[in-house]
Amino acid sequence: MDRLISKIRDIPDFPKPGIIFKDITPLVKDPAALKLSVHQLMQPFLGSEITAIAGMEARGFIFGSLVAWEMGLPFIPLRKPGKLPYDVQSVSYDLEYGSAVLEAHIDAFEPDDKVLLIDDLLATGGTAKASCELIEKLGAKVVACAFVVELDFLNGRERLDAYQVHSLLHF
Ligand code: PRP
Repeated sequence: MDRLISKIRDIPDFPKPGIIFKDITPLVKDPAALKLSVHQLMQPFLGSEITAIAGMEARGFIFGSLVAWEMGLPFIPLRKPGKLPYDVQSVSYDLEYGSAVLEAHIDAFEPDDKVLLIDDLLATGGTAKASCELIEKLGAKVVACAFVVELDFLNGRERLDAYQVHSLLHF
């Protein structure tokens, strides 16, 4: 994991003063680190009941689609509003200032799908919790959530207590 930690770059005061942004671009730029992170994300779920991988826009698409590719499973994008062309289901959730919306196509999941949700970062857990709600609104079951980075001090994991949570790196 030291190899992965060394590829997460701290950017102070982004996107606003006081926030230290965890930049994953050095990790995805390094093929060996990217491969290691994808394999570590999926490792607990090999041979499991998972039938689909979902990832949130935008950085969840990077890791989620690679996990789906490696596991030979469908990848379902959860998108920011107004991007998807077909009929959508939506979920809105609160941010520190204001609110946000995620959408997925109404036929994104099969009724018996068991979903692994993937994102780069678990912070407050608002995005992941809303994503789980969206998946469940669409009739599928969320089995687990996996993240490259978890910011332990924000306690996002508590909001996901209904699910198995797997994080590679803890800060
Ligand atoms: C970041 C990150 C997670 C979310 C985590 O996404 O990729 O999706 O924030 O924060 P939370 O646990 O407090 O909800 P962002 O909204 O910055 O979108 P991006 O991936 O498009 O940059």
